[in-house]
Amino acid sequence: MDLSGHPRVLLGHFPTPLEHLPRLSQFIGGPEIYVKRDDCTGLAFGGNKTRKLEFLIADALRQNATTIVAMGTVQSNLPPLAAAAACKLGLKCELILEHRVAIDDVDYLDSGNPFLNKLYGANTHFVSDGADATSTMESVADEVRHRGEVPYVIPRGGSTPVGALGYVECASELLAQAKHENLSFDYIVHATASAGTQSGLLVGLKAMHCNTPVIGIGVNASKSVQTQRVLDLARKTAQYLGMPGLVSRDDVIANCDYVGAGYGLVASDMNAALMQVARLEGLLLDPVYSGKCMAGLIDLTRKGFFAGARNILFIHTGGSPALFGYRNQLNVR
Ligand SMILES: Cc1ncc(COP(=O)(O)O)c(C=O)c1O
Repeated sequence: MDLSGHPRVLLGHFPTPLEHLPRLSQFIGGPEIYVKRDDCTGLAFGGNKTRKLEFLIADALRQNATTIVAMGTVQSNLPPLAAAAACKLGLKCELILEHRVAIDDVDYLDSGNPFLNKLYGANTHFVSDGADATSTMESVADEVRHRGEVPYVIPRGGSTPVGALGYVECASELLAQAKHENLSFDYIVHATASAGTQSGLLVGLKAMHCNTPVIGIGVNASKSVQTQRVLDLARKTAQYLGMPGLVSRDDVIANCDYVGAGYGLVASDMNAALMQVARLEGLLLDPVYSGKCMAGLIDLTRKGFFAGARNILFIHTGGSPALFGYRNQLNVR
């Protein structure tokens, strides 16, 4: 899929590695598990946002923006990566951080991602749970305009059709890598939330006539909400690329059985998966996204969901800085 006509700034290191996880595969006792290391995208501590930001920041520059305005929760991964990208391009950065998860310890509030936000010099606006973060974001953008500057607003997760192009590109990268390695995957599994990752992948894969099922393991919403979110953005992204009708409802698979008590709250199966993967493969997951996704991948394998499959690809979407914010929530011994 040729995206060369779409403005892009280079922020990361691509292609990200594709690795086999032999000890985890043996431990789970199912198909072979491979990992696409999007935790190693190269900007700050990596993660899926780098790919989205390459297109979003290019769009901001095209609009002569001077200030990036981005939004997320206290331990979200988008804000520090948006701030890092802004630093790299000489832009200012305003962050709107919602205190949506009921955790109040000092590590959660100040370590991990919030610490990085500070390190990158972003101007941070905290919004308490239940307050309207979107209207705060709009008023921050207005303040930026009043100062005579030009804001570029990035919504939650950077999941717009422009941001999703990062994962359209990832689909091309992945298929080229798989071909080179003589590998094929029966399923692709990754964490899904604001939907840019799954929507972009679906559009990219379908555009290249690849029908490998992409299973998004949800981390906040119900299955029906998450499915609709992915479908809506996939349709908008396909339309944006001039390919309306490319993705249908049947292409969207969201499994929301591993959310646990709620978004950002630690679950015991996630805690176990995070420790197993660290101790078997030296690979760091995160408690909010990739850890819950891995808990789902392990459980689904054990339940026989992947019966008959040879190779499964786990896309590691990053998030490891949150390990430090969740130090007191995780049970690591
Ligand atoms: C580490 C990590 N993994 C997965 C996701 C989910 O990706 P998306 O929001 O594109 O669905 C996010 C962001 O929300 C994330 O920060």
